[in-house]
Amino acid sequence: MGGDHNFSRRSVIGAGMASVAVTGIGLPDEADAQALRPAATVTMTVSLTVNGRPRTLEIDPRTSLLDALREHLKLTGSKKGCDHGQCGACTVLVEGRRINSCLSLAVMHDGDAVITIEELGRPGALHPMQAAFVKHDAFQCGYCTPGQICSAVGMLGEIEAGVPSHVATDLSAKPGFTVDEMRERMSGNLCRCGAYSNIVEAMAEVSGAEAAGTQA
Ligand code: FES
Ligand code: FES
Repeated sequence: MGGDHNFSRRSVIGAGMASVAVTGIGLPDEADAQALRPAATVTMTVSLTVNGRPRTLEIDPRTSLLDALREHLKLTGSKKGCDHGQCGACTVLVEGRRINSCLSLAVMHDGDAVITIEELGRPGALHPMQAAFVKHDAFQCGYCTPGQICSAVGMLGEIEAGVPSHVATDLSAKPGFTVDEMRERMSGNLCRCGAYSNIVEAMAEVSGAEAAGTQA
């Protein structure tokens, strides 16, 4: 090492203290140091009934319902596509209504009943919508499929309850529903494989909607 680089620890500290004196920027006091320490993790208790089972979680209040299901309860059937409410891969049923679970905090659902794809049906005892998806080849890679099926099941409930959509604003005047109506109601569920026509065929079979091509 050359003489220009012959620093000692003492000389460096001494220079630092001199710099503090010159600039007026003090070393942090204890209050500042505490503020700079990472905050202790805050958790909240949330109780859900998931797929018929009471579950209690102690979680960071910022945890989405999707992460609560996937990371804490290991129910990985619901998929994380965009995590921004744009693809529908994370759709689950909460109190019978379909929601994007990535957009909702788990703590907002304290006391709620949640149904995921794992509960809708099982091999050998498929939900009619699952069976129709298989029959009509309504998936390719399958990544969007749990969300599509949960959404389709929720959608049928909406129509039965007479919840209006953009296509049919007054279902009482137009009982039943058409393929166009279903397409509109499923527009929040994207499929990068483009299995849309097969998905609609499957839904039409389950819902008893008129044949594909029926116009609203
Ligand atoms: Fe929730 Fe895409 S992952 S909408
Ligand atoms: Fe691949 Fe829909 S089946 S994204």
